[in-house]
This record gives sequence, C-alpha cells and structure tokens, in this order.
Amino acid sequence: MSENKINTSTILTKAREIGIVIPGFNIPYLPMMEPVVRALHDTGTFGLIMVARLEWLKFKSGSMKSVRDEYEKLKDLRFTRLHLDHVPVIDEDNLLTDFESIIAEAIELGYDSVMIDGSRLSLSDNIGKTRKIVELAHKAGIPVESELGAVMGHESGPLPPYEELFASGKGFTSPEEAKRFVEETQTDWLSVAIGNIHGAISAATRTEKKIEARLSIPQLKLINESVNIPLVLHGGTGIAKDYLMQSFKQGITKINIATAIRQPYEKLMNQSVPEAQEAVYNEMLEIINNQLEIAGSANRIFRN
Ligand code: 13P
Repeated sequence: MSENKINTSTILTKAREIGIVIPGFNIPYLPMMEPVVRALHDTGTFGLIMVARLEWLKFKSGSMKSVRDEYEKLKDLRFTRLHLDHVPVIDEDNLLTDFESIIAEAIELGYDSVMIDGSRLSLSDNIGKTRKIVELAHKAGIPVESELGAVMGHESGPLPPYEELFASGKGFTSPEEAKRFVEETQTDWLSVAIGNIHGAISAATRTEKKIEARLSIPQLKLINESVNIPLVLHGGTGIAKDYLMQSFKQGITKINIATAIRQPYEKLMNQSVPEAQEAVYNEMLEIINNQLEIAGSANRIFRN
C-alpha cells in the first residue's frame, strides 16, 4: 500500500493487528520538530507529531497553525502524521474551554487526527461531548482519540503520593464504563488510566525529574478485553521498560511522549538551539532503539 494515502485510523488499526506501538511526540517548542522527524526518518520508524492545547498556551509552540506550517515543511508521510493532542473540555486549571471550535479549526487546518479530553466530566457528559466531536471528525474522515479515567499530573497543585494513588486504583479506567463509552461514542482510540501519569507542566515543577510510574497490567487486560479498539498510554515518559512491553501486548497501540524530549531541549535552548535539537535527536534514538524497540516499524506497518 502507498503510505502517502493511508489515514491514521488505518495505520493504528494495522499496528494493533501486528502488535506494533506507535509513539506520539509532543512539540512544545517548534524547533523540536526537526530532530523528531529526522530521528523517525533515520531509524525508519513511524510516529505521530503532536501538539496539545496547553503547549501553545503554556509553552512556545505558538498555535495550531504554526505547528501545522512547520509540519508541512518537515513531514515525510512514510514516517509521520500530525495529531492534535489533549483538547480538554475542562482544562488543568479547572476552566471550561472552547473545545469544539479548537477541534473544528484543527480539522480545517488539516490535522490527521484529533483528541477530545472529557476525562474531568461525568461519564454521561464525557460520552455526550465526545460523541459530538466524533460526528464532526468522522464527517471530515479523520479519527478521534478520547479519554476515560484520570491521568493526573498536568494540574498545578501537588499530586497525592504516587504509591497511595496506585495502590488505591483511584481514577483507573473501568472496563465496564469503557465498553459503554466506546459503544456510545464510536471513538476510534481510547486513552486509559492504569497508573500512568503525565510529567508536570506547571512553571514551578516542569524541570523536575518525573517519578517512575507503574502500570496495572491486570486492569489494562480487563479494559482490552472489553473494547475492541486501539488503546492509548499517556504519560509515556519514565515508565519502566518491562511495564511498557507488557502493555503493548495488552492493547496499548499508541504511547504519548513529551517530558523525555522536552527537558533535554529546555536545558540547552537558551544556550544554543542547534545543540538543544541534537539533544532531542539523541533522546529520540534512545527511545526508539532501546526503550520501545521499534526501529524499522514503518516498513512493517506499510507492508501489505
Ligand atoms: P509525558 O510528559 O509523561 O511523556 O506524557 C506525555 C503525554 O501524555 C502527552 O499527552
């Protein structure tokens, strides 16, 4: 199949069938995109280039349009597609957003897939809002990622102690709710909460080393048995490799990675942008070759 014409929905479905994970890399600073695309190209790996609403509001990616424009300059359809990450209905500061118009604009700009994050809503409200976005995106022929359960970490306040959180299972995605959510929304991909947390993004904590999260593989297995679509793991930085490998066998088809490539960039960006870009490139090689072991995945995905 000619990779240029294939949409991201087909790519993720194929990846799920053959057991390959697709990484999505966040772009909080536009110059990060070049080394990310270069590393995907040099290693023959398929990945998504992503931006989340908070990355144009709280970091320096500019706007959805500036990310799209930079992507148009650098894209290589053998290895990349453009994804709109987290557009929350209620954001990390507890404010309501204009999520519908943001997502409509992304579709207009040519984003290949979008995410609505209704995870701070009640189940029925999350279903209603997600369903509307699915209708909008499917009309344009693009897939939707949505979220059920609480993947914490973006909020500005302190997190409860991680081990307590993990042991309680509080906020974990429920398999029964996931089944209902997927049936009623027709979402294409589902982001799940199974112990994963996002790297901190508040100005006071964003440079801190992320804590090593664990994953409840039994919970993931139950979710994967109750729905039949690609599952997404947010908070992909700093999870022990053994957990990652097990999660890929239990339905995780997309993994989101931000902190791991943002922090090396931020460390050097005021000194030298080219050096900061090289640091991102080197981290990308480490992630692709050693942490995820997916070098060469593009060939496997696009082979008939
Ligand atoms: P990390 O910052 O932990 O890699 O999480 C990224 C993410 O999930 C973006 O949606």
